Amino acid sequence: MSKRTIAFICQNCGATHNRWQGKCEACGEWNTLVEEGGGIGTRALGPGKAPRKGRLFALEPLTGEVHEAPRLPSGLAELDRVTGGGFVRGSVLLMAGDPGIGKSTLLIQAAAALARAKHRAIYISGEEAVAQVRLRAERLGLADAPVELAAETAIEDIIATLSAGKTPRLVIIDSIQTMWTDMVESAPGTVTQVRASAQALIRFAKQSGAAVILVGHVTKDGQIAGPRVVEHMVDAVLSFEGEGSHQFRILRAV
Ligand SMILES: Nc1ncnc2c1ncn2[C@@H]1O[C@H](COP(=O)(O)OP(=O)(O)O)[C@@H](O)[C@H]1O
Ligand SMILES: [Mg+2]
Ligand SMILES: [Zn+2]
Repeated sequence: MSKRTIAFICQNCGATHNRWQGKCEACGEWNTLVEEGGGIGTRALGPGKAPRKGRLFALEPLTGEVHEAPRLPSGLAELDRVTGGGFVRGSVLLMAGDPGIGKSTLLIQAAAALARAKHRAIYISGEEAVAQVRLRAERLGLADAPVELAAETAIEDIIATLSAGKTPRLVIIDSIQTMWTDMVESAPGTVTQVRASAQALIRFAKQSGAAVILVGHVTKDGQIAGPRVVEHMVDAVLSFEGEGSHQFRILRAV
C-alpha cells in the first residue's frame, strides 16, 4: 500500500495544518479543520511510478492576430452591466452568495436568454433534480427556451459530456460545492474536492472557449468549503447579496 499524505485543511481559508486543532491559525475560525486524504499533490507519484513524459507544444511569436474578447450579452441588463457587457469566451465566473439569495433563479434566466438567442447553453445542477429546475423555469416563463439540463456531480462525466458535440457557449455549474472528481480522494464539499473540480472546469473553459459560471454558496460555519478557495482561481467573482426582508438584491463584481 502506498503511503497516503494526511493533512488537516481549513474549510474556510484552505490553509493546511499537520495536525488537528480547534482554531485555524491562518484565518482564526474555529472548528474548520477537516482531515483530508492528501491535499494538493495527492496524486503525487507513488514509488516506482515514472513521471509522465511531457507533450510538445508550439511556441508563438509576440506579434500575431489578436482577437478582441467577444462578449456574450445575456440580455439581462443589470447582469450584463456587472459583467462588463456580457460573458467572455473562455472565462470563468464565480457567483457567490448565501443559500436562497436567488443564484439559481438568476442563472437559469441567463441560460434561457442565451439559449433563445440560439447559443448552446447548458445548466448542470448538483443540488436539484431536473424536474425541480424545470419547475422553476416554468414559473419564470422560460420553459420553451432550449436550455440543456442535467443533474450531475461527477466532474469527469460532466467534462466528457460538455466536450462531446458542439462547444457550449455558456455552462452553469450549480454548485461547485456539490461537484467531485476522481482525481482526489477527499469527500465532496471539502476544499480539496472543490479546488480540484474548479481546476478541471477552468481548464475546460480555457480549452473550449465556453464561458463557465460556477455557483458557490457562502456558509458561515466552515463545514462546506467556502467559495473563498476558488476566488483566486477564477477570472471574476460576482457576489450576490441582500437582506431577506428587502425587495432588491445587489450583484457586485469583485
Ligand atoms: N428576483 C427574484 N425575485 C423574487 N424572488 C426570487 C428572485 N430570485 C429568487 N427568488 C426566490 O428566492 C428563493 C431562492 O432562490 P434560488 O434561486 O433557489 O436561490 P439560491 O440558488 O441562491 O439558493 C426561491 O424561492 C425563488 O423563487
Ligand atoms: Mg440554488
Ligand atoms: Zn482558516
